[in-house]
Amino acid sequence: MAGVTRVAGAALAVCLLLAADGPEILRPTHESVVPPGEITVVARTKQGKLTLDGKPLVLAEAGPGAFSAEVEAAPGRHELVLEDTAGTRTVSFFAGDAKDAPEGWRRFRSHPPVAACGACHKVEEGAWTFAGDASCFGCHEKEKFPEAHTHNPVVLAECQMCHLPHGSTAPAHLKLRRDLACKQCHG
Ligand code: HEC
Ligand code: HEC
Ligand code: HEC
Ligand code: HEC
Repeated sequence: MAGVTRVAGAALAVCLLLAADGPEILRPTHESVVPPGEITVVARTKQGKLTLDGKPLVLAEAGPGAFSAEVEAAPGRHELVLEDTAGTRTVSFFAGDAKDAPEGWRRFRSHPPVAACGACHKVEEGAWTFAGDASCFGCHEKEKFPEAHTHNPVVLAECQMCHLPHGSTAPAHLKLRRDLACKQCHG
């Protein structure tokens, strides 16, 4: 029982950190490698300014606090900086081949549909929210869920506990290693 409490405490601390409403660049992830060309940046901010290598970008507002920007990234290393009154976030990424990127940087795995925010989000009482697991099962087969998860989707309806659905560098877009992901509830 003590184990469960301790793990629940750690999970709570993580949630509180994520719940902070400072600026956040959600895509691409820090130290990731993308193909050269256009990439969609996803950001959370209040009236923030986004720059690529010091040049201002146009942020398109998808809903309260939620923005995207289309970025043309030439081959090489780049820096995105998001700044608002609550703080500053910096994300470095590399456009090109993973073998040319700084050591340890990993290929960014995109997750569709990036630009169609409404596939997973809605505005509720003036706030940008996740529309819930039903939006995921518009594309993913519910019947297959137990194979990868051991559970049915009722217990794991909070997909965002474990996944980063804007894409990430991890297999299955996991935020945590599989064993740690399950330990959020199983001490
Ligand atoms: C495939 C589903 C999916 C798509 C498409 C998607 N998102 Fe998300 N997004 C999520 C999930 C899941 C979360 C986590 C929600 C949570 O933690 O409450 C999230 C979180 C966010 C957050 C952070 C919310 C917060 O308060 O921390 C922002 C901002 C955001 N998305 C913006 C966007 C924008 C803008 C687009 C379109 C360009 C987009 N998203 C497309 C699934 C998606
Ligand atoms: C519009 C369709 C669509 C929606 C909505 C959608 N997905 Fe996906 N998802 C896909 C497709 C297509 C792939 C395969 C992409 C690839 O591998 O290139 C994928 C891949 C994934 C993967 C990675 C699979 C792997 O083996 O690497 C995960 C995890 C995932 N989706 C989770 C989610 C979650 C969680 C949601 C809801 C927040 C969601 N998806 C909503 C279409 C969708
Ligand atoms: C407790 C953590 C956890 C939660 C919560 C979770 N997942 Fe997963 N998911 C995983 C793990 C771990 C894998 C990778 C399994 C593997 O390596 O085979 C995975 C794999 C996937 C995959 C790719 C494998 C497949 O079956 O195609 C999809 C899609 C996916 N999850 C969707 C979702 C959706 C949708 C939700 C919310 C309803 C969700 N997940 C909630 C941990 C989680
Ligand atoms: C959101 C909390 C939560 C997460 C995250 C979670 N589980 Fe569970 N798990 C439960 C609950 C509650 C039960 C008991 C009720 C049930 O079986 O549905 C359970 C039961 C189980 C059982 C049945 C045996 C037992 O110990 O009672 C297995 C096996 C299991 N989980 C595996 C996993 C795996 C593997 C993961 C990661 C992919 C995971 N769980 C993630 C909440 C969770």
